[in-house]
Amino acid sequence: MTDDNVVRVYVEEAPSQRREVEAPTDMGLSLMEVLKASGYDIQATCGGMALCGTCHIEVLAGPALDEPSDEEMYMLESLPIMSTGSRLSCQIRVNSRMDGLVLRLMPQMA
Ligand code: FES
Repeated sequence: MTDDNVVRVYVEEAPSQRREVEAPTDMGLSLMEVLKASGYDIQATCGGMALCGTCHIEVLAGPALDEPSDEEMYMLESLPIMSTGSRLSCQIRVNSRMDGLVLRLMPQMA
């Protein structure tokens, strides 16, 4: 049985090692909140305001996401490392179109 209100995203924890994470689409959660609730160590010191950069992820594959806002791009560009798939997970609202997304957490530079 499939649940219409859940999508599956895949967190690449190591090369060729992906963990499936289920994310509800009907609770208004951000991807950062889902990842934290799944046990990932994301500080999110700004509380999801696109100000701290600690929720930085890299999208590796999967469906296209909505374009980042100017605030998100500004924060991403200030980080010590950034890739073409870089996003702030707090700025991504979980929705039914992101089923199958593959991502990895970006390392935090002190
Ligand atoms: S939680 Fe601070 S930028 Fe995302």
